[in-house]
Amino acid sequence: MQTNLRGRDMITTLEWTKEELETALEVAFRLKQERALGIPHPLLRDKTLAMLFFYSSTRTRSSFEAGMAQLGGHAAFIESRTTQIAHGDTAKEIGEILGRYFDGIAIRNVDWGIGNKYIRDVASASRVPVLNMQCDIFHPFQILADLMTIMEKKGNPQGKRIVVSWAYAASYLKPISVPQSLILLMPRFGMDVVLSYPPEFPLMPEIVEEAKALARKHGTGFDIVHDMDEGFKGADVVYAKSWGPLLTTTDPEEGKKLQDKYKDWIVTDERMALAAPDAIYMHPLPADRDIEVASSVLDGPQSVVFDEAENRLHVQKAIMALTMR
Ligand code: CP
Repeated sequence: MQTNLRGRDMITTLEWTKEELETALEVAFRLKQERALGIPHPLLRDKTLAMLFFYSSTRTRSSFEAGMAQLGGHAAFIESRTTQIAHGDTAKEIGEILGRYFDGIAIRNVDWGIGNKYIRDVASASRVPVLNMQCDIFHPFQILADLMTIMEKKGNPQGKRIVVSWAYAASYLKPISVPQSLILLMPRFGMDVVLSYPPEFPLMPEIVEEAKALARKHGTGFDIVHDMDEGFKGADVVYAKSWGPLLTTTDPEEGKKLQDKYKDWIVTDERMALAAPDAIYMHPLPADRDIEVASSVLDGPQSVVFDEAENRLHVQKAIMALTMR
């Protein structure tokens, strides 16, 4: 267990050692148990968190806000369009100034080619921890909640097989931060990864190379396939969601045309039957119901999506308590 996490940023899980992440998960399990027992844990009494959003959210905003209150502190919701950012406040100014008002700065900025750099620029100027609520490259709190959920449902993740699969969605071109974060974290905890996507939907090459290197280091499998059925075969964890073809095109119309070629990439009961009999179905939500995944799967016995969403609260509280105390 690592006890010296005060002041640390959480921008990607790559910047935390496995032992540090295990510490965060241990604290998350403890806080979840205490909440179930009605035991208060005001570990951040009088502390404040700025939550700066450049993009909409249901789960992230709600869970950070509830989490800060449960830790005895306060979270301020700041929607970027209501600030002076458009009129000239730079990332440096946001880091310097919010860092003097608040004890932590959490940011969601998923703009392609901008989000991660923006968060890092704020972090460089901030005297308090900066927490990545999702950028164009990473979604660390989602993925830590996912790992917590896998541990709850499947026990030790070592040797388990996860398929990280693309799925069709009609709503909009979604960020690639979730699949990228999954393939980077799961090998470190011993999971075999199968990454499955249509050819026009690759992830960032440097991220895939890093994931392969981690798989080699930890002695786990890492395969890429371009067939949804193939990917599902024998999986213990099915994690299928849509993402945009950002490495192929950033033009929304062209991207939509590419996406529409693959309407048959939907999670159905038949496809779930290709996975292990006791496989779990995961999705960070929101999902395009009956387009990305059949309602019978999303609401079915193998789905763990609500426990997964709940665990956002517990991992975020753990990391805030460890870094912002
Ligand atoms: N999973 C997730 O990040 O959900 P929100 O976009 O609603 O925050």
